[in-house]
Parts: sequence; structure tokens; C-alpha cells
Amino acid sequence: MQTVAVLGLGYVGFPLAELLVKSKKYKVVGLDISPAAVLRARRLLKNKNFTASGDFTALKRADISVVCVPTPTLRNFQPDYGPVKNACLSIVKNLKSGQLVIIESTVNPGTCEEVVMPILERYGAIAGKDFLLAHCPERIDPGNKKWTLVNIPRNVGGLDPESTKRAKEFYRSFLKSEIKVMGSLKGAEATKIIENTFRDINIAYVNELAMSFDAMCIDLLEVIEGAKTKPFAFMPHYPGTGVGGHCISVDPYYLIDRALKSGFEHRFLEMARAVNNGMPAYTVSLLEKELEKLGLKLRHVTMGLLGLAYKPNVADMRESPALKILKILKGKRAKVFTFDPFIPKLSTVKNLGVLLKKCEVIVLATAHREFINLSPQTLKKAGVKLVIDGRNCLPKEKILAAGIAYKGIGH
Ligand SMILES: NC(=O)c1ccc[n+]([C@@H]2O[C@H](COP(=O)([O-])OP(=O)(O)OC[C@H]3O[C@@H](n4cnc5c(N)ncnc54)[C@H](O)[C@@H]3O)[C@@H](O)[C@H]2O)c1
Repeated sequence: MQTVAVLGLGYVGFPLAELLVKSKKYKVVGLDISPAAVLRARRLLKNKNFTASGDFTALKRADISVVCVPTPTLRNFQPDYGPVKNACLSIVKNLKSGQLVIIESTVNPGTCEEVVMPILERYGAIAGKDFLLAHCPERIDPGNKKWTLVNIPRNVGGLDPESTKRAKEFYRSFLKSEIKVMGSLKGAEATKIIENTFRDINIAYVNELAMSFDAMCIDLLEVIEGAKTKPFAFMPHYPGTGVGGHCISVDPYYLIDRALKSGFEHRFLEMARAVNNGMPAYTVSLLEKELEKLGLKLRHVTMGLLGLAYKPNVADMRESPALKILKILKGKRAKVFTFDPFIPKLSTVKNLGVLLKKCEVIVLATAHREFINLSPQTLKKAGVKLVIDGRNCLPKEKILAAGIAYKGIGH
């Protein structure tokens, strides 16, 4: 049985380790620099073919190592390759001859050859001879029940034909999806970046439309429903309080940075990032306008922020627009209570009922199941006067009919 080392046991690495163990085809060593991640993995996956550890010498036993560490941005939006570099250093210090190294972390086109390979060759090992190198970007969508790790198609690119072949065989052995072979490492790297950038610019487009249509008093949601009836060449995207998470709000910066190093300025992508980054402030500006209509002032009302996570029904707060809204509100010295059923530790009240009782105004930032199901009667009974629906997920007409002011984003 071959041994696979998975470096990084987070949203990407842990499910991969779990699936590999369940395939009964591999022994798996999960490696993480965070003791908490190691303990969590040990607790969640008890199997004789799985060990989790912070001891990277275990890599000496690995036939395959898969790098699933974070690729965030620095404060100035420059890519932070620190975790990828460190993971590669751990691999090269404990390199088993012939090992297949796969990078799953989202990286810029060129990273495997320009950043990863020089580190792996640092102590004299030669790529293609002493180790193989491939890239297979992860596409997991936490919370998605239909498209999971097992059935999401994958793209694989290798340094040479042998690396590509071995990487393809590896993924074929435990996934039920199409594994597409790309002609190069760079091609495989670029696919993931353009997928996420595609999302970012489309969301930026509808967010910009939301602001323009709000100014013109046109309901964008209705317009999208109309446009959607075109059976080809239109793909609906929806406006909201902004874009969060470790992928869509981060990956475009990687492409912007890499292209700039090659002398090309991605003005369109920069603009999309700026539009999406501006949505939390726009949400607060809508709130202030609506309060003014009611003769109220931000500082004098008690507000409830519904949701802290960046997307529905998960506890992930990375780059969450909700946190930006909270920061802006606090900066304006507003009195805000927060509640997220998935993040009780950072909620300032223990349940939705308590929050509603305390607040005259609610700002919905995450479309969690519990919030979508909120009825206008419940809001009315609790004394809510204004709803800012940052995800356009509440029944606007019914809320208005209940005598509660309502404003969505472009809706
Ligand atoms: N979260 C997603 O939905 C998703 C989807 C597709 C792709 N990705 C990409 O996958 C990569 C991992 O993302 P994630 O969401 O799993 O991140 P994460 O933060 O959830 O997990 C990463 C883990 O790596 C560990 N780590 C950091 N440096 C390490 C090192 N040198 N050696 C070993 N472990 C180390 C961290 O302690 C952490 O536990 C990123 O490049 C991300 O862009 C993420």
C-alpha cells in the first residue's frame, strides 16, 4: 500500500485525507504546523491507515505528497507564498526518492516551476529524476451537497509526461470524476485562477448594476429574472454585501500580481476587486438612507447583524463582508448585536430570538437557513422597524405588507 502525505489539514486537506483513507488504497499521513488542526484531524478520523502529526519526518515514508496549505494575500494584496514555500522546504528536507509532489493549493501560473521547483531542488535532487511534480487545483465548495470532492472534475498538469501520468493515475484511483490532462503545469495553475476570477468579475458586474439600479429605482432582481429566460449566453449572478472566502476574494490578486510582473496590467480585475470590496460600505450607506427616511439616526438605534460567515450554512469567516460591515458600524459608534448560528463564540447574543427582541433594525449579511426562514410576523412581533437584506433572501413584499421598512441590494 502506498503512503500519501497530505500537508495542511484545513478545508481542502482534511476532506482529501479522509477520502483517501476511505478508498482503502492508501496509508495517509496528515501533516500540519497547527497542533489544533492535528488534534482535530485525529478526533474526526480514527482509522488504522491514518495518522495526523506535526512531525514532518513522516514525509520520508511518503510515495506521494499533496500540498494543501493556504495561499492568502499580504496586507498590500500581494500573494503570500510563505506557507507553500515552507511546505516545500519540509518536503525537500525529508524527500523520499521518486516521490510524486502534487500542489493542490491555488497558485499563480508559473508558481510550480518558479517557486516550488527551486526549493525542491535546493539540496541536489533533480526534478523529473529524483522526484516528480504536478499541479491539480482543488475545486471543493464546502457546504455543496451536489458537487463534492468525489465528483467535481479535476485538471492535472505535470512537469513532464511521467509526472502528469502518475498524477492522473493517483486521482483516478480515488475520485469518480473526469480527470482532464492539461498540456502544462502553467495551464493547470491558470485554470483555477480564471475560474475564481470569472466569479469575482461577474459578481462585481451585478453589484455595480445594483448600485446603478438603486439610483434609478429599478429592481435588479426582477431584471435578472427576466434576463435569465434567455436560454443561451446569459448566466445569472446575484448582488449582495460583497465577496468573501479564501478563494474568490483572494485569487484575482494573484493573477493581477503575476501579470504585472510580466508587464501586463489587469485593470478590469482591479476594478472588479474594488467594486466588491466597496459593497460592505454601500450596504451601510443604504442602511443610513433608510434610517433617515424613518427619521432615525444610526447612533440612536439598536442594530442586529445577522450572520458573520462569508457564505450560507458554514462557519467560515475568512474575508467575510459581514466583518467589514461590523467594523464600519462600530467605527460609526453604532450599537450592534451579532448572531451567527454557526459561530456562537463570536455572536454577542445566544440566539436569534434574543437578537430580534433587542433590535429595531436588522442587517442580514449571510443567507443562513435560519435567517431565510424568518417570517415577517416574527419580525413584526419583535418590534423590528427596518430590514436591510444584504442577500436579498427575505420576502420583500410580505415584509413591507407587515409595515416594516425593507431594502435589499439593488432590490
Ligand atoms: N477552502 C476552500 O473552499 C478552497 C477551495 C478550493 C481551493 N482552496 C485552496 O486550497 C488551499 C488550502 O485552503 P484551505 O481552505 O484548506 O486552507 P485552511 O486555512 O483551511 O487550511 C490550511 C492548513 O494548512 C496548514 N498549514 C499552513 N502552513 C503549513 C505548512 N507549512 N505545512 C503544513 N501545514 C501548513 C494550516 O495550519 C491549516 O490547517 C488554498 O490555496 C486555497 O486557496 C480552498
